[in-house]
Amino acid sequence: MPLPKAELHLHIEGTLEPELAFALAERNGVELPYADTEALREAYRFSDLQSFLDLYYELMGVLHTARDFTELADAYLARAAAQGVRHAEIFFDPQAHTARGVPIGTVVEGLAAALDRAEERHGVSTRLIMCFLRDESAESAMATLEAAKPYLHRITGVGLDSAEVGHPPSKFREVYEAASALGLRKVAHAGEEGPPEYIREALDVLGVERVDHGLRCMEDAELVARLVRDRVPLTLCPLSNVRLRAIDVLEDHPLPAMLAAGLVATVNSDDPAYFGGYVGDNFAAVRGALGLGREQLRVLARNSFEAAFLDDEEGLRARYLAEVEAYEFEAGE
Ligand code: HPA
Ligand code: ZN
Repeated sequence: MPLPKAELHLHIEGTLEPELAFALAERNGVELPYADTEALREAYRFSDLQSFLDLYYELMGVLHTARDFTELADAYLARAAAQGVRHAEIFFDPQAHTARGVPIGTVVEGLAAALDRAEERHGVSTRLIMCFLRDESAESAMATLEAAKPYLHRITGVGLDSAEVGHPPSKFREVYEAASALGLRKVAHAGEEGPPEYIREALDVLGVERVDHGLRCMEDAELVARLVRDRVPLTLCPLSNVRLRAIDVLEDHPLPAMLAAGLVATVNSDDPAYFGGYVGDNFAAVRGALGLGREQLRVLARNSFEAAFLDDEEGLRARYLAEVEAYEFEAGE
């Protein structure tokens, strides 16, 4: 049994494996410009975030019906559960679908059908987080929040993703204020490719409770001290950072320094179909490349449940944390 953990940074569209992409393309009559899954996998060589996003948006064009989204989410939950995920907070990008004529209701209802069965089928509790595309306008984000109003009982929070540089968090001040007024939790990608200043803005202007990535905080000692003091969780994605060239090799990842500094670091998979692995693979990779010991892996798992948007009334957080404390590592793990 793998170490129990929560996954807090996972784009559901980034779990679209080539095999499912081709199956959905066929079912929906979509022509993909790749001969087969091998040829598609050849395209998974990225030079930066934008080069990945171009393929990510192209490939999600095979997703049309609620059933497609249900199958996508169910496939992710099965893989995640097999790697020890007990709780998943799942991002989705409504604007990437509404722009193609797929209504937000189709997306949310399709995902929700899989999430409704996740406890029973996979033993995973779930939340949905709706992300705004930061390279689209603030008006488009506000219209998306408005369109989501009939579905807010299914949505726990809002996030901010897509091309970071040139699109600072402050661009979305008003939509985050509106989301807050609706009782939604708040996260944002910041400091993946963008500067430490974007992390400060996410905290000060948007009022986020967690920072997605936050990798570049390490360039700013004062910011690190603040994140440690306020126990702001960071949702790190080590394999993503290598594939998108934020760092050269995994051995250079600042995760050990971040843990040593006392940051509330978590390890997540981001877009596992594209970046070479699900969350358990990310844990295994950092253990191997960075020499993390068992107690550090346990800290990462504990952090993931402490940072999760779980209601204390449910008692789930306490139950999961107890599972982490009781976990016995297997030989070689
Ligand atoms: N960064 C920003 N936006 C994204 C990502 C990412 O890694 N994945 C999907 N959208
Ligand atoms: Zn991400």
